Amino acid sequence: MSSDLLDVVRGCTFDDFLLTPQQGIVPTRDPARIDLSARVSERITLRRPLLSANMDTVTRAAMAVALAEEGGLGVIDRGYRAGDIDPQVAEVAAVKRTQHGTIADPHRIAPDRTVRDAARLMEQTRVGTLAVVGATGRFLGLLTERDTRFVDGDQRVDARMTPLDRLVVETGPMSLDAAEAVMAAKKVKKLPLVSAEGRLLGLVTAKDVIKHRQHPFATRDEQGRLRVGAAIGATGDYLERAAELVRAGADLLVVDIAHGHSIVMARALEALRAALGDVEIVAGNVGTEDGVRFLLERGANAIKVGIGPGGGCTTRITTSFGVPQAEALARCRQAAGDRVPLIADGGIRRDGAVALALLLGGDCVMLGSALAGTEETPGEIVLKPVLLPDSQKIVQVPFKVFRGMASIAAVRDRLDLEDADPRELEALGAEGLEVSVPARGSVRTVLRNMVRHLCSAISYGGAASLGEFRAAFHADPRRFLIRLSPAARRESYER
Ligand code: XMP
Repeated sequence: MSSDLLDVVRGCTFDDFLLTPQQGIVPTRDPARIDLSARVSERITLRRPLLSANMDTVTRAAMAVALAEEGGLGVIDRGYRAGDIDPQVAEVAAVKRTQHGTIADPHRIAPDRTVRDAARLMEQTRVGTLAVVGATGRFLGLLTERDTRFVDGDQRVDARMTPLDRLVVETGPMSLDAAEAVMAAKKVKKLPLVSAEGRLLGLVTAKDVIKHRQHPFATRDEQGRLRVGAAIGATGDYLERAAELVRAGADLLVVDIAHGHSIVMARALEALRAALGDVEIVAGNVGTEDGVRFLLERGANAIKVGIGPGGGCTTRITTSFGVPQAEALARCRQAAGDRVPLIADGGIRRDGAVALALLLGGDCVMLGSALAGTEETPGEIVLKPVLLPDSQKIVQVPFKVFRGMASIAAVRDRLDLEDADPRELEALGAEGLEVSVPARGSVRTVLRNMVRHLCSAISYGGAASLGEFRAAFHADPRRFLIRLSPAARRESYER
C-alpha cells in the first residue's frame, strides 16, 4: 500500500472518482467464470464479497438465507430488547436448519412414544421426518409427516414408522456426491447413514442435494449448512447473547457499536475472548489507522470500517465526526496490511461503488439501504398514496420502512419505550433516520446484478479475478483513479 493512495483519496468518497479503463483480458464477464472470492474474517471465505447489514429493517433469517445461498453472508441484527435473546437465536437457528449436507443431528423420537407426540415435535421443529432411535442408540426407522396423518394419535411410533428393513441405508459417513449416486440408483428421497453398530450418523435428503446443486457458490460450513453472522453489542446482555448465538450455530459474531475505537469495545473484546475462546469476531466500526490497530491488538478477526457513510445514518450531521468512506478504507487498509480482512460498511448507493470499496481497502462490502424494500427484508408492506406528476392521478404504492439502528424508532423498539415522551427520546441522541422505500422484488435480483456489475468492473480493470484486480490497483493506484471535477461528477453520477 502506498502513501500515494492516501494522498489521492484524502477527504474523498466513492463518487469523487472514476476508474480508468484498462485493456480487457477476460473472454467472458460470466460471474460463474470469474473468481470473486474474498475473506470476510480470518477463517471464513465468501465466493461473493457481499454482506447484508445487521439492521432490524434489513437482516433476519430470510435475508440471511438469500445472502448465503447467493455466496455472501447475512448478519442478523441485535435490534431486540435487552435480555430478549431467544428471538435472535431463533433467526440464527432457522438459517442453520435451512439446508444441510448430511444432517448430523436429525430430530429423533423414541419408538414407544405416541404418534401424537411425533406430530407435535414435527410442528415445533417444522421438520417433517423424524429418526426413530431406540434406548440403546440403535437406528430403527423413519417416521414422516405422512405417517402421522389421519391415524389414531395414541398409536406407537414404531407401529407407523418405515422400519429399517424397508429403508435404503448406507454404512459410514459418505460424501454428498456418493450419497446422491446411491439415492438416484435406489430411487429414494432420504438416505440414513449408520455406523457398523447400527447407530445413526446422519441423514441425507434429496431436498438438500438439490439445494447444493442449485446454489454452487453458497456460503456453507463444514457440515454443509448455510453460514450466518449475528450482531451483539458491547454492554448489557452481550456476553450471554454471544454464548447463546454461538450455541445456535452462528459462524461469526459482529460486535457492532457506532464508535468501535473505545474503552467499551476493549472491555467487550476481552470479556468475549475469555468467555468464548476461538470464535470468529468482527469488531467495529472504525475509520482510522489508530482504530484498526486498537482492534487488531485486541484480537479482532475482521474489522468493520465506516463512520457515518450509511444511508440511514445522521452521525456526521449531528456530531460533525466521521471519515469520508474512500479515505477511511485506504487508511484502515494501510494499518491492517494483510493481517485481517476489512468490511467496507456503508455508503454503497450504486453498484459501481462496490468495485471502488473493494479496491480502496475493503475485502467485502456491507449493504443496508441498497437492499432496503426487497421481499426478504423484515417488516410489513404499507400502501401510500403517491401523486403521479404527469397525469396528476393519485395511486397507491407499496412501501417498506428502512431505518438507521440509532434512529428514534429503532431505539424506542429496543428499549421498550412506546409510552416515552418524544422529548426524552430526542435526548437519547438519535443518530439515524427512518424512511419509507418502495417495496420491490427479491433481493436475489439485486445481488446478482451487483455481482454481474462487479465482473464487468473487473473486465474494464484489465484483470481476470477480484484478487488480480486488487493487486493491479495497489501496484499503481494513480493508473486507475481519476479525481473528478464537480462537472465530471455531474456527468458521471447525476442522472
Ligand atoms: P448503507 O449505506 O448501506 O449503510 O445503508 C449501512 C450501515 O449504516 C450503519 N448504520 C448507522 N449508522 N446511525 C449510524 O450512524 C444509524 O442509525 C445507523 N444504522 C445503520 C451501519 O454500519 C450499517 O451497516
